[in-house]
Amino acid sequence: MKKVLGHILSGSLTEGLIIRISPETPLEEIKTGKFVSISGKNHTFFSLITDLTLAVTHPDILLFPPTPEETLLTALLKQRDIYATATLKPMLMLTADNKPSPVKTIPPHFAVVHEADKKDVNFIFGDQAHPSKKYFSIGCPLDMDTPVCIDLEKLTERSNGIFGKTGTGKTFLTRLVLAGLIKNNKAVNLVFDMHSEYGLQARKESENQSFVKGLKTLFPDRVAIFSLDPDSTRRRGGSPDVDIVLSYQSIQVEDLLSLQDELNLHATAVEAAYLISAKYKQDWLYVLLNQGETLKEFAQSIGAHPESIAALYRKLKRIERLPFFKPLHKAAHQPVIDQMMEFIDKGINIVVEFGNFTSTFVYLLIANIISRRIHAEYVAKTEKFLGSQKKEDEPQKLLITIEEAHKFLNPQAARQTIFGVIAREMRKYYVSLLVVDQRPSGIDQEIISQIGTKIVAQLTDEKDIQAVLTGVNGASALRSILASLDTKKQVLLLGHAIAMTIVVQTREYDEKFYRAMGDMVTAKQINHFVEELF
Ligand SMILES: Nc1ncnc2c1ncn2[C@@H]1O[C@H](COP(=O)(O)OP(=O)(O)OP(=O)(O)O)[C@@H](O)[C@H]1O
Ligand SMILES: [Mg+2]
Repeated sequence: MKKVLGHILSGSLTEGLIIRISPETPLEEIKTGKFVSISGKNHTFFSLITDLTLAVTHPDILLFPPTPEETLLTALLKQRDIYATATLKPMLMLTADNKPSPVKTIPPHFAVVHEADKKDVNFIFGDQAHPSKKYFSIGCPLDMDTPVCIDLEKLTERSNGIFGKTGTGKTFLTRLVLAGLIKNNKAVNLVFDMHSEYGLQARKESENQSFVKGLKTLFPDRVAIFSLDPDSTRRRGGSPDVDIVLSYQSIQVEDLLSLQDELNLHATAVEAAYLISAKYKQDWLYVLLNQGETLKEFAQSIGAHPESIAALYRKLKRIERLPFFKPLHKAAHQPVIDQMMEFIDKGINIVVEFGNFTSTFVYLLIANIISRRIHAEYVAKTEKFLGSQKKEDEPQKLLITIEEAHKFLNPQAARQTIFGVIAREMRKYYVSLLVVDQRPSGIDQEIISQIGTKIVAQLTDEKDIQAVLTGVNGASALRSILASLDTKKQVLLLGHAIAMTIVVQTREYDEKFYRAMGDMVTAKQINHFVEELF
């Protein structure tokens, strides 16, 4: 038997439904975000609790409240005159023939509200055991232990976002979702791993500092590590599959566009860069950095303002100190990108480790260079497929994961850079983004509105909340849910890959999870292994 929570009193489709919570239900067990079902006459409505209120039938009761000793009176009042109400936001309804549909009607007065049960959750969100392997659990509804699944196939059809304040579990959840995609073979991933948290192992905040496994450790044959800092990768106990070496020729003026903020680059400096590249093509940076004493004459020779050229020179000079850039002065041959494409073609996922190069400058520059080239390869592959229309030519979907996404996708950068292009063109060329960010208000509104599935942990800044709820139906009800999430490991799921908006306690990224991913080495062993290394 399903547990009865109360019955419908009033409300509306837009503002939500008000239920009276039955006196038998312990009030403090009812939380916002709870997943409930309403049995209407013909339809079942699935809803989330968005607010709770105390009510009385007559205002006099509040003027003469019972004293703590008057337990009998309190009990009596509870039967009739004092009660609590909850506001419910219906998110999905089942039609008479049990088909899920958007909510277009409301249940009648006094319809009974139940706690949702395991069967409801499985029916709505899909079962991990489904042969298509498209359902992947990422948590459970509040106070339940039945897995809520996302549809991995739908997830890869659009760009997606994982948002939340710092420390809410974004990286852990991202790693979990990526593990699901890898395990069930639903996309190839390219992860720009700024803080070395995805590849080998990652630290877990806990009393006794421990480590969790990275994707390479979980899926050794399915993941390759490309490292900008091979020594750092080795110190952490693995050897990179490929050391990244790039030539100056791989940097195009477009790559500077998302660095404008970071470098404080004036538009005139970018124009100067375009002038150099018009004359020297892909050698533009090599030529610029070899100026020094002759900057003035150089500026004249290309018709640029000497000060702009000087500023550009000063700001880009730091590239010379980055050991993975080599000033190879020969035709633009990019073996690293070719190698990456070879892996991707074989369905092997790539983690780009930055090691000790954790500056935003390096992160933005490298992610831009690589994504621009890989995207170009995908455009070519897609065109080939469209031409031949042969199944074997169809590219496998590629999902690019970037952290600190607002730095790539702020309104200025989003208009001009490759990440803006990928987010906007949707999956036309089989490439989409998984953006991870703690400050979604920094992301261009248009891009946010293109995001298919959002996984949102606690956010407290009003601007951030507003940004993630842009274009979402019934945003005001969700706003209160977002603000009341736990500080860790609780998220609101909404969008394309999720059957209905829901709050979940996130799945634990632990040994049990490793085993579900088919891994047999225990965390104890890996901690021991890491201790031996340091
Ligand atoms: N699913 C999970 N399983 C186990 N532990 C988790 C999970 N999610 C979060 N944690 C715990 O919370 C801590 C913080 O998580 P995480 O590093 O993912 O936060 P974050 O949102 O990425 O933070 P930042 O914005 O600072 O990068 C982890 O170190 C871990 O201890
Ligand atoms: Mg993180």
